[in-house]
Amino acid sequence: MIGATTLSLLRVLSDGEFHSGADMGKQSNVSRAAVWKQLQPLIERGLSIESVKGKGYRLVGGCELLDWQTINDALTFDVDALLPSIEILPEIDSTNNKAMNYARNEEKGRAYVCLAEYQSAGKGRRGRQWFSPFAHNIYLSVAWPFQAGVNQLDGLSLAIGLMVAKSLKSMGLEKASLKWPNDLLLGGKKLGGVLLEVTGDMTDQCWLIAGIGLNVETIPEDVVDQPCAAIKEKLPTCSRNQIVAELLNYLIPMLQNYPVKGFAPYKEEWESLDAYNNQLVNVHLANDIVAGVARGITEHGELKVDVDGHERIFNGGEVSLRADTSY
Ligand code: BTN
Repeated sequence: MIGATTLSLLRVLSDGEFHSGADMGKQSNVSRAAVWKQLQPLIERGLSIESVKGKGYRLVGGCELLDWQTINDALTFDVDALLPSIEILPEIDSTNNKAMNYARNEEKGRAYVCLAEYQSAGKGRRGRQWFSPFAHNIYLSVAWPFQAGVNQLDGLSLAIGLMVAKSLKSMGLEKASLKWPNDLLLGGKKLGGVLLEVTGDMTDQCWLIAGIGLNVETIPEDVVDQPCAAIKEKLPTCSRNQIVAELLNYLIPMLQNYPVKGFAPYKEEWESLDAYNNQLVNVHLANDIVAGVARGITEHGELKVDVDGHERIFNGGEVSLRADTSY
């Protein structure tokens, strides 16, 4: 685990400059001799920390750590009022698991947001793993209470993807787009994803756990099974804390109003950002692959596909682009 001393040392190194072992030890209340040992958990989690004789230690490239105060300062007044707690964890198996545990034990129905610098077992859709290197990207989960069962949640997963896309656009990532149901794309490559889980009484008081993963730094090609994009490829100086705050500023009001508004107000805007609209696609189902042309979504957020001139509606499955073989 990453303890308080290790985290404190990382804060010193986050500026990317060299710091002597003596200075670091003094600032973090640890002996100079113990500094290197305390840095090991960070090195094991992939951070590139150099040790140079006569100069000290340096985190190559530096990093911006998540910071509660910076995030809070950038929340709108309304969002701040709606969110009693935001927790930042140095390390967790999965922020969705953490939020799920919170929801199962929370009796007053208060919403909760958690973020982690590192996930040891980040979860993607369809049982996949979500690559979660330390202090590189955004791993955020929201536990949100709903009073009238899961029927209210129709289309919500698409609305969440839309809010993430809108928050990114508002920060200057104009080309962010969506792939049904809730993948975030940039230049056709995966930029992020949303994993929804539900707990509680499915017909009454229930909790939505919405997990959002966003690639901020470039992902090495050999660790994931699909082409990925990263926010910093287009916005090299962007701040993770700023992205988180902006995302919450879009997401939380939408969640708050969803039981009243539903998906209808979001349908058109979702379709305007749909990267696969009118494209040849394959819809991968449990035991079948259906080929057709994507034709937007229904008012409940289901996917519409023209299959040999007939409209088919899908509410599950995975969509992939199909190479055009017509010429
Ligand atoms: C996908 O496969 O597209 C969904 C990925 C969702 C990843 C996020 S990261 C934060 C939250 N915690 C998890 O374990 N998964 C989600």
